[in-house]
Amino acid sequence: MGNQMKKIIVLASGRGSNFQAIVKKIQDRYIPARCVGLITDNPKASVIDIAKNADIPVFIIDYATFPDKTVYEAELITLMKELSPDFIVLAGYMRLLGDTIVQRFHDKILNIHPALLPSFPGLHAQEQAIAYGVKIAGCTVHYVTEEMDGGPVIIQRVVPVLDDDDSEQLSARILLEEHIAFPEALKLVCEGRIEKRGRIVKIKGQG
Ligand code: GRF
Repeated sequence: MGNQMKKIIVLASGRGSNFQAIVKKIQDRYIPARCVGLITDNPKASVIDIAKNADIPVFIIDYATFPDKTVYEAELITLMKELSPDFIVLAGYMRLLGDTIVQRFHDKILNIHPALLPSFPGLHAQEQAIAYGVKIAGCTVHYVTEEMDGGPVIIQRVVPVLDDDDSEQLSARILLEEHIAFPEALKLVCEGRIEKRGRIVKIKGQG
């Protein structure tokens, strides 16, 4: 595989702080990739401005204008095929990708989740962690499979849960780690340093 530049696209629905962290690490040449597009389902997402400021093409596929998810995803997959990315990054993309897309881009889609999977999959992971009373939390970068938040784990980073934490405080602490973990995972996949057997991911040249 070597160190040649990979093409990535990013799907995001909202704020875009993970996207921002990734763009920065591409600009710094930490991640050997080019971002050839930001795709969003939300025309009001602030992630759009981040892409524009970085001269990254923005593709808005406004979910609200489609009759159903199948029609929406047909448009999405057409665009994704046109862009022909090496990797697809879900950075706060707030929809479940349908099986057709997941299968078409098998082993190419990465997601970040704000919990130490397999604990607390799904929405409001940080609130789930506080409500359960765990003492450590964190984030997970994983490959996307048909099972929600269930794909092979690439990187996890850990933070403490403090006694007085509310979900905002815990989310902020986790987010700082997300901004490290996601670029690091992308660097590894773009450099071809991942060895995956079943759901076990190993990083070449480590241990
Ligand atoms: C992050 O907490 C991420 O883990 C989750 O959605 C949030 C996106 O935040 N999947 P941002 O848009 O990257 O700031």
